[in-house]
Amino acid sequence: VFLGIDIGTSGTKTIAIDAAGQVLAGASATYPCEHPRPLWSEQDPQHWWDAVVETVRGVVKKAKLKKQEVRGIGLSGQMHGSVFLDKSGKVLRPALLWNDQRTAAECDEITERAGGRKKLIKLVANPALTGFQAPKILWLRNHEPRNFAKLAHVLLPKDDVRRRLTGELVTEVSDASGTLLLDVVKRQWSKPLLDKLELDPALLPSVVESEDVTGKLTPEVAELLGLSTDCVVVGGAGDCAAGAIGNGIVRKGLVNTSLGTSGVVFAYSDQPEFDPAGRLHTFCHAVRGKWHQMGVTLAAAGSFGWFADALCQTDKELAKKAKQDIYEKLVAEAAEHAPGAEGLFFLPYLAGERTPHADPNARGAFVGLTLSHDRGAMVRAVLEGVTYSLRDCLDLMRELGVPVNEIRTTGGGAKSPFWRQLQADILGARVHAMQADEGPGYGVALLAATGCGEYQSITEACDATVRTASETKPSAKAKKAHDARVGVYRDLYGQLKPAFD
Ligand code: XUL
Repeated sequence: VFLGIDIGTSGTKTIAIDAAGQVLAGASATYPCEHPRPLWSEQDPQHWWDAVVETVRGVVKKAKLKKQEVRGIGLSGQMHGSVFLDKSGKVLRPALLWNDQRTAAECDEITERAGGRKKLIKLVANPALTGFQAPKILWLRNHEPRNFAKLAHVLLPKDDVRRRLTGELVTEVSDASGTLLLDVVKRQWSKPLLDKLELDPALLPSVVESEDVTGKLTPEVAELLGLSTDCVVVGGAGDCAAGAIGNGIVRKGLVNTSLGTSGVVFAYSDQPEFDPAGRLHTFCHAVRGKWHQMGVTLAAAGSFGWFADALCQTDKELAKKAKQDIYEKLVAEAAEHAPGAEGLFFLPYLAGERTPHADPNARGAFVGLTLSHDRGAMVRAVLEGVTYSLRDCLDLMRELGVPVNEIRTTGGGAKSPFWRQLQADILGARVHAMQADEGPGYGVALLAATGCGEYQSITEACDATVRTASETKPSAKAKKAHDARVGVYRDLYGQLKPAFD
């Protein structure tokens, strides 16, 4: 048996699978995300650890697992976050997350120190973006010098959980790619960039491939979780690569979309491929010696969650009491309206935007409201706006000649047949849902099985276990309606920019 633990932004989910990839049990626990100031997004790493303990114990109990049965654990998690630790392993301040936007000045500083954007892309394959980890380290140096003076280690979220599980300070290539400190082509830390930034390489953990074993559970943790000290923890993957592995994105032509708090379009590549303009990320894949390109919209299902929280509190409470799903109710209201939401547009830039605008100051907007619009039309506009943003990412890929032969989808939003149809209509392609739609946790559980020798490679593991379940085809009429609107949607960002700055 292998466990996959995904430390997400809204919660942690743990699953147990057998060596054939059958899901035996799952458990999840939620925690808050703090926004103490505009543009800030933080979490207390203790919440992740508490959720990991609760969900692993939950899965062990549900699947009635014996101590020796669990042979390996794979870790996945929200990428780019920074856990700042002193030399005794104490967390110095709340972690800055992937959707934190406070570091625009530090991004400029990094670009300048690297000798310009082109040189930076040459060193680490990507431009400096506010969500990435390196600008967060510089922010600590520039704004909290007392904490920086105590800083001994910086870890990504899932790697802080690894430290607590095994005592080891290790990351792996897919997540390390999102620090902006990895030479993505060579798959090792970029000494030249670290020098230019005057950052001590000793701050960073060692880097391995995603299926490599990084350590074993400490005796105290094994006892706490009801597992054995023989249980190993493999590298795992950032949640985007892990979700892609879970959907079998291990060959050229396969593209994954993910609708979680963020929205992701992810394309496998055999070689590192670059967007010369730096709009798409080029990161290492969790497949040994392979890469991927990816576009990220920062508030996908996060926009829908915001809508429900900000505008539907009463219904949310009523639904909870009646054990109903508020999101299903809202989607049913949206389905009453025709494609195009009666002329209403929604820009999903509630947390600024990454792809394609790379603009921390971008803002969300409803445009085109009239007295006739009801809540259903607004929900439809939100879901359409988020999906237009995925289309922005996919069109960049198409423009760069990235092969798009098959689209598979994952994440909370992908479970909705209505939203899958919207994806097919707006992306203009067939969209496949998966049999074991367990997301990143499934991908890293397969990496654990591979690291423990059940499979020769993660590609073999995916071929043996991952199956598509359904295919959603675009409707010609709806596709036409959306194609006509996408141009207007794209222009709105530029037109509204003066209102954002
Ligand atoms: C990827 C990204 C997000 C987080 C969310 O670049 O920032 O998808 O990983 O979990």
